Amino acid sequence: MNSHPSADLPSADLPSAHLRSADWYAGDDRNAYIHRAWMRRGLPEDALDASKPQIAIANTASDYTPCNMHLNEVADAVKQGVWAAGGVPYNLPVVSLGETQVKPTAMLWRNMAAMAMEEMFRANAIDGLVLLGGCDKTIPALLMAAASVDLPAIVVPGGPMLTGHFRGQALGCGTDVWRLSEEARAGTISEEQFLRSEQSMIRSKGHCNTMGTASTMAVVAEALGMTIPGFAGTPAPDSRLLSLSHDTGRLIVEMVAQDRKPSDILTRDAFLNAIVAVAAVGGSTNSVVHLLAIAGRVGVDLTLEDFDAAGAGVPVLANLQPSGRFLMDDLYRAGGVLALLEQVKDLLSPSPITVTGKPLVDYLDGHPVFDDTVIFPRSAPLMDDAGIAVLRGNLAPQGAIVKPAAATSHLLQHVGPAVVFESVEDMRARIDDPDLDVTADSVLVLRGCGPRGYPGMPEVGNMPLPRKLLEQGVRDMVRISDARMSGTAYGTVILHVAPEAAAGGPLGLVRTGDLIRVDVEGRSLHMEVSDEELRARRQTPAAKAAYAAPVRGWAKLYVDHVMQADTGADLDFLVGSSGAPVSRESH
Ligand code: FES
Repeated sequence: MNSHPSADLPSADLPSAHLRSADWYAGDDRNAYIHRAWMRRGLPEDALDASKPQIAIANTASDYTPCNMHLNEVADAVKQGVWAAGGVPYNLPVVSLGETQVKPTAMLWRNMAAMAMEEMFRANAIDGLVLLGGCDKTIPALLMAAASVDLPAIVVPGGPMLTGHFRGQALGCGTDVWRLSEEARAGTISEEQFLRSEQSMIRSKGHCNTMGTASTMAVVAEALGMTIPGFAGTPAPDSRLLSLSHDTGRLIVEMVAQDRKPSDILTRDAFLNAIVAVAAVGGSTNSVVHLLAIAGRVGVDLTLEDFDAAGAGVPVLANLQPSGRFLMDDLYRAGGVLALLEQVKDLLSPSPITVTGKPLVDYLDGHPVFDDTVIFPRSAPLMDDAGIAVLRGNLAPQGAIVKPAAATSHLLQHVGPAVVFESVEDMRARIDDPDLDVTADSVLVLRGCGPRGYPGMPEVGNMPLPRKLLEQGVRDMVRISDARMSGTAYGTVILHVAPEAAAGGPLGLVRTGDLIRVDVEGRSLHMEVSDEELRARRQTPAAKAAYAAPVRGWAKLYVDHVMQADTGADLDFLVGSSGAPVSRESH
């Protein structure tokens, strides 16, 4: 079993330095009176003393975010830890996003969630933060917000669910939805069987049990140093999740005492460590936009090329869906994230510290692998060299990405004619048309799905294959888009093409029948169309037609300010940090 890492935690010494919350609670003036009086409500008499760290538990629990529904129980465990260490805990519900629930796409709201969180972290009497996340966008938004306000902070990853089964087979949530729906479309299982599997898909509390975006971002948080080492991947129903949550509550009080902030932890080397970790676990392509956005908040100069360079040569060791066979529960049983990272310890920088003040690599000794069919040995990895490949060319001047671990190897070098779809609706309307002129060698091109074009960059890059090809036994094709892809999806899917079509990128100029050349080894993505022809196409009315722009609300603000995928799709005015100071007071 996994060893419990909390024994290594330093003990808390209450701070002697000035606490931020004293700006609310200390003193005899009327404002301090007001701040204290309204907060008392049963707190111990000394709870608002100047020496008591005030800890906010940023809680993404919501009945509309099913993967995070259990986080109120987790928050209670954190509270106990905070009290035990001499701090004062507060539950702070924050914007939450249920990946499977919100329309038109959860990514439209990641930056809104991060902005709202940041503002509330700054506006309240908070000395330290415990960040409770789980479902895909929640940990990225929490980290972006915490980085911008730069208060001591720790992530509690809410944990994956247990494995469900259907007709004797383990179900990977997400991945098996895509697989079973394609099987039903191909006619190899019945529609009724497909629908019956729905009851078995979600077995317990927790987030998706594949190495999808939620699991990936938990690993990212740990590799960045933002969790107690050994926490990521702890299943949501496992009692150790609550134990580690208690420990996190204790540790945040100590972090406040030490004034150990995200800017001390989130160094460039920490981001490079996270890229290595994502590669070793065969993690989600979504980690690219999230890591770029988090890096932007702390002023770390991280580029797409860093993903290619730092991930190059990193073997995939986790035999987990969607790249492999097993699920997160199996990873934990096999030794967990620390056992896996120990295998690639030599590829990790020893310098970045974690929330405990000690480097991550200090925790990477003595974690045996108990099942090497789940965590492959370094000497015989699942895949030699995976990571994320960054492609450039006249189709993606600012870059596009592909995850070779999830692709079909012979399609990584491919030339084929484009079949172009103008939007996700156009694709859905025509993909199964028996008259669609498409073969297994065709390249499916989807545009209008980038940050501005959709808007919100939905996870539709893994387009379904045309039914007539499925019926012929085709199970993968080259697909190219300015969209993202679910971390639970797979296939030879080239994503995040930048600039997107709606931002004037050449993706908007591709026509059905154009030859597209994909060379993943050579890192290029090219359409066989002359520069002269592309210039002429750019002048056509269709190319100049604007994507319908939202006229009000968040969507307008988003479209007016969202950056392209190659820099993390954050809003341009949210890049960087404003820190925690608040200079004015209204009372
Ligand atoms: Fe929440 Fe997959 S839908 S983690």
